[in-house]
Amino acid sequence: MAEDKVTITDKKTGKTVEAPVVHGTMGPAGIDIRNLQKELGYFTYDPAFMATASCKSAITYIDGDAGILLYRGYPIEQLAKHSSYLEVCYLLLYGELPTPKEMEEFQSIIIDHTMVHEGLRRFYSGFRHDAHPMAIMVGVVGALSAFYHDSTDITDPRHREISAHRLIAKMPSIAADSYKYSIGQPFVYPRNDLGFVENFMRMMFAVPTNEFKAHPKSVKALELILILHADHEQNASTSTVRLASSSGANPFASVAAGIASLWGPAHGGANEAVIRMLEEIKDPKEIAKFIKRAKDKHDPFRLMGFGHRIYKSHDPRAVIIRQMCYDLLKELDTEDAPLFETALELEKVALADDYFIERQLYPNVDYYSGIILKAIGIPLNMFTVIFTMARTVGWIAQWMEMMEDEEQRIGRPRQIYTGHPRRNHPSEK
Ligand code: CMC
Repeated sequence: MAEDKVTITDKKTGKTVEAPVVHGTMGPAGIDIRNLQKELGYFTYDPAFMATASCKSAITYIDGDAGILLYRGYPIEQLAKHSSYLEVCYLLLYGELPTPKEMEEFQSIIIDHTMVHEGLRRFYSGFRHDAHPMAIMVGVVGALSAFYHDSTDITDPRHREISAHRLIAKMPSIAADSYKYSIGQPFVYPRNDLGFVENFMRMMFAVPTNEFKAHPKSVKALELILILHADHEQNASTSTVRLASSSGANPFASVAAGIASLWGPAHGGANEAVIRMLEEIKDPKEIAKFIKRAKDKHDPFRLMGFGHRIYKSHDPRAVIIRQMCYDLLKELDTEDAPLFETALELEKVALADDYFIERQLYPNVDYYSGIILKAIGIPLNMFTVIFTMARTVGWIAQWMEMMEDEEQRIGRPRQIYTGHPRRNHPSEK
């Protein structure tokens, strides 16, 4: 049988290089081009990494044409139906679903780490009163390494595990504090008798004068959102975390870099932008105008929550979330039904339009998640913070995998230089 290799020939010089094909368990194989530069003197050129696999990973699998998403082999639909968010965290970190005993232990470890250092809380007062909670998240999470340096020896697997637990456990407390600070209310301490999601909602909405009890439907909806956002293989923020930590940076600093990347409107910031867009559309009669703008090359406006680099038939997370919208809005007494109607109508019109059909643009996870978050009372500027909370486990699981990867070295892309050729300073003769 012929060896699984690809021969790359430089037609100009006639030189060839044999590049081995690298197979995974599913999905397209990759061509190992590490010898290309040595043998032929070329780099590969792939802006935005449209055709580049940056690592091998056993965590998350996506088939964008078929709309399939698996965490550790389990379909997202099944995890959404049967698992809690903390179970999914365990699965992503350790590779298997936990036994009841393992789950109990994991839950108790996470609960142990929910409080943050009081010194860290004083950090918040240095921010402007109207700071965006994501700006606070980037700063405060980055500062964690200054408070928890007893777990930043990245060469020690136990330190790595403790940092992972700390990040998952403390993220809801940091997130809720960033919100409380931005509205001038006192911070609420975590309560260890509550579940992960209820605890977060209480830290968001309780005040010293009024206890808060989350609606069970809201808890279920938020739990679902966290599960659906927990990991998504080598997206921009995850690749940022991997690249930042490939230099040996500690996980708290690397996750802060991931948060910065997630904040952008083309990535995690889209859920906030979707609601702003739907509120701007207001009347479904205005939809045609917005569709026209989205198609206009000279207008920077895009239909937010539409399109995906990988999903080209549907985003399986959007399908699950759309159903949750139906269920939740029926149950909760909210004013968001018209917003949902507008979203449904906009989706219908876009999916029948040649522009969106030809470019395979479908609603993504962020299209409906904002409606759910809004309906359960989460303010708009906290939407991307919720995404951050959910994705923390993905970032940290990918980081742990990278740290155990024998092929791991500092990430260092190359470039095609297009600047001025060598020239002398005017003072040189
Ligand atoms: N509205 C209008 N046109 C669009 C849109 C959109 N939302 N998305 C892509 N296009 C067009 C784009 O103009 C281009 O057209 P042409 O080929 O004529 O130049 C074509 O579709 C391909 O777009 P692209 O920008 O090359 O695709 P990409 O893979 O680089 O970008 C994307 C993917 C998600 C950034 C993009 O679809 C987008 O900006 N969507 C809106 C923002 C959004 O919803 N982001 C959330 C992504 S899912 C959650 C997450 O990853 O965090």
